[in-house]
Amino acid sequence: MARMLIAYYSRSGNTEKMAMEVATGAREAGDVEVVVRRIEQLSPDDLLGFDGIAIGSPVYYGTMAAEVKELIDKSVKHHGKLAGKVGGAFASSGGPGGGNETTVLDIVKALLIHGMIVQGDHEGDHYGPIAVGAPDARSVGECRRFGKRMSELVRRLTN
Ligand SMILES: Cc1cc2nc3c(=O)[nH]c(=O)nc-3n(C[C@H](O)[C@H](O)[C@H](O)COP(=O)(O)O)c2cc1C
Repeated sequence: MARMLIAYYSRSGNTEKMAMEVATGAREAGDVEVVVRRIEQLSPDDLLGFDGIAIGSPVYYGTMAAEVKELIDKSVKHHGKLAGKVGGAFASSGGPGGGNETTVLDIVKALLIHGMIVQGDHEGDHYGPIAVGAPDARSVGECRRFGKRMSELVRRLTN
């Protein structure tokens, strides 16, 4: 069965709540094993075992938390081996216009450099789900839809 990882960093729980909603959406699609892990629990080697990888971060000074960047930087060890896997990103900021989209795009850039496949969204949060603080009803919907679409793509590409 195809496998999808939802990796996140969270200090005060907002990004963690998003990760759980992404997982709910991803599981809804069925036929894909969905694993949720704090980023600190992951080594770059773990990334090899998944067909899809979604990464979530709080916004710290307009970009991802250092803990997220650390795993990405360590993943250079496997540069080339993540190519063709599905990627995605989500973020929580303190305020609107606080750097959500720049954070999502910074993560997406790294995934693209790995050669991963990132699906955009023509109707909702275009680059990946965002929340201001804890996810509200709108963000919960975006996270679930993102998770579902991502796992559907994983399934399509692995079948
Ligand atoms: C070191 C640090 C830097 C932050 N920088 C920003 C920022 O640039 N813009 C913003 O909107 N919020 C910023 N915040 C607020 C967090 O992004 C926000 O509280 C987020 O929801 C926390 O997510 P978490 O509960 O998953 O830890 C910052 C918080 C910290 C601790």
